[in-house]
Amino acid sequence: MSTGRVRLALALGLLLWTTGARAEDGYDLWLRYPLVSNPDVLARYRAEIASVLVAGNSATAQAARDELRRGLRGLLGADVPAVTDTTGSRLLVAGTPATSPFIATLGIGDKLSRIGNEGYVIATVPPDRPQLLRPRATVIAANTDVGVLYGTFAFLRLLQTHQPIDSLNIEEWPRLRHRVLDHWDNLDGTVERGYAGSSLWDWRTLPEYTSPRYTDYARANASLGINGTVLNNVNAQAASLTPEYIRKAAALADVFRPYGIRVFLSARFSAPIEIGGLKTADPLDPQVRAWWVRKADEIYAAIPDFAGFVVKANSEGQPGPQDYKRTHADGANMLAEAVAAHGGIVMWRAFVYSDKADDRAKQAYSEFTPLDGLFRRNVQLQIKNGPIDFQPREPFSPLFGAMPQTPLTIELQVTKEYLGFATHLVYLAPLYEEVLTANTRANGDAPAVRFVLQGAAGVANTGSSRNWCGAVFACANWHAFGRLAWNPALTSPALAEEWLRMTFTNDAAFVEPVKAMMLTSRQAAVDYMTPLGLTHLMARGHHYGPGPWVNDVGRADQNSTYFHRADAAGIGFDRTATGSNAVAQYAPPWRDVFGRLDRVPEDYLLWFHHVPWDYRMASGRTLWNELTARYCRGVEAVRSMKATWASLGGTIDADRYEETRAFLAIQEREARWWRDASVLYFQTFSKQPIAPDACGEPERTLDYYRAIK
Ligand code: GCU
Repeated sequence: MSTGRVRLALALGLLLWTTGARAEDGYDLWLRYPLVSNPDVLARYRAEIASVLVAGNSATAQAARDELRRGLRGLLGADVPAVTDTTGSRLLVAGTPATSPFIATLGIGDKLSRIGNEGYVIATVPPDRPQLLRPRATVIAANTDVGVLYGTFAFLRLLQTHQPIDSLNIEEWPRLRHRVLDHWDNLDGTVERGYAGSSLWDWRTLPEYTSPRYTDYARANASLGINGTVLNNVNAQAASLTPEYIRKAAALADVFRPYGIRVFLSARFSAPIEIGGLKTADPLDPQVRAWWVRKADEIYAAIPDFAGFVVKANSEGQPGPQDYKRTHADGANMLAEAVAAHGGIVMWRAFVYSDKADDRAKQAYSEFTPLDGLFRRNVQLQIKNGPIDFQPREPFSPLFGAMPQTPLTIELQVTKEYLGFATHLVYLAPLYEEVLTANTRANGDAPAVRFVLQGAAGVANTGSSRNWCGAVFACANWHAFGRLAWNPALTSPALAEEWLRMTFTNDAAFVEPVKAMMLTSRQAAVDYMTPLGLTHLMARGHHYGPGPWVNDVGRADQNSTYFHRADAAGIGFDRTATGSNAVAQYAPPWRDVFGRLDRVPEDYLLWFHHVPWDYRMASGRTLWNELTARYCRGVEAVRSMKATWASLGGTIDADRYEETRAFLAIQEREARWWRDASVLYFQTFSKQPIAPDACGEPERTLDYYRAIK
């Protein structure tokens, strides 16, 4: 290094050291609190908040106090004095009627009565009426300390996104009761379908050592309103229910408790045999039932607010009640009874399928609808968004319209098992929104899926990587999931904008183009992977990259050829009355809309129909030409994402910029791989040329793509 460069490096180092700035490595997620960059906005905030009082002595109140101090110090550039009396003006007061006499005497009882135990009120008081003598203040009020904590994050969010705070009147409460992240984390530290390093939980050093990272995890979740976490994989090991692991889980629960987060464990159905020494796990066997009651008591002794069990039973080789000729309801109810006395619940997963049925898409519905009304009230049936398995696009699961007597939780995948792992930039809020707003037409006045839910469970994408999710943009999906679990009516554009402003900058020159890019990214992935309702064409096992030719897996319904059914006549899965008749699982008019070739939305065309290659599409193209055009459209969309990002060099920090730049280059190359491999493969059936398009001739031969391992 030249002397000049050394001097420059030293000067920069000194600057970073004196300002306390550090490299942006993504660790702070959307909870960065940089100085408000707009001088007018900053001046108004400083004028509005002269001192702070967070009432209450609980660990939760302390967490709110710490967060406010941290947030305001960063955003306003100086510590805001903490006070103990409420006589001053321009005060920010946070608390409950029980912890704060100021809030108790404000006269906002009607507001508080509307927001429940977890909601909050953020208000400027008195409202703009200068004749009132009480000095003006801002309050964050709730009925519980957790509500205050949620309100604190919401208030900071206003500042982080540069919103006005001089006449606030916000009432907020969670629309869903169970807002849960499911970690598919194994006890050996690996994560099933995890693309962000190893497990967040270091089982080896728990319970003695609780990493500070566990607290930051809880902060991030609380900032979204997530109130539950499932610590271990649904493909569970019985060992997670042994005393040793219960102690470890209890240590995590202790860290999470102040943040309103309760711990669930995935339970292996055969645990009474494996760790209990019983001969059976039959849910109607009295000894088995007694074992689970004792196990629940033992867990509650260590974790008094234990949330309950999550169970994957009789699915993909997992044990379950059907091993004893009992039903899913028998199994779920046995566990539900064991936790009921302690206020716990059971999340029983509806993701089941056997290789014997005629159509995998029909199975969850076929197995569970006869059980509607038979589950205990503290069972939540946890249903994946679509009938198959977290594909780039699926129609909504017909179960959402068919279980009126059963409490339902939707399961969404945050980790991108089928969507390019952490590397591909695919913003999932539009996918979540699509299913939450889908109108089942089966539930009277409130037919959208979001109205039939009591919970949302997101399969987490977090891991040990410094930026949590394996890519900065992958964390946008954690954010979107959590915010939608709080309020499923939030929209993708609003969520993308909020996340961008909090994660990067409020500068519209960055936010607007990147928001547009995020909002197109999901359709891009659908187009370059599985356009027009195609599904499950990924390479087997790991599910990364194209494998439409896969037809050698023992189970028919794990082969790509099972799903696309391409032949000389056409392509697609006939799920109409002439085929598997899966359309009959949907209420009218959907069964007719999906079932009729002239009515089905093109996005679901090949999901429901086997369509001739020469079928005329809305565009006027033949199906074959439309299919190849869609594949190319996906590649083009990624190219344009990459170009957008390239135009933004210098607008954000170098590290996060560079990661995204590099990942978009990978995504472009792999979108192209998907398109080339897929069109070459389907061409072996259509026997038609690929119409000239912006993607040009495939770069390699089909054999080349098929040989990629
Ligand atoms: C998918 C996924 C599995 C997972 C399963 C589930 O099939 O590939 O890894 O265990 O879903 O949700 O249970």
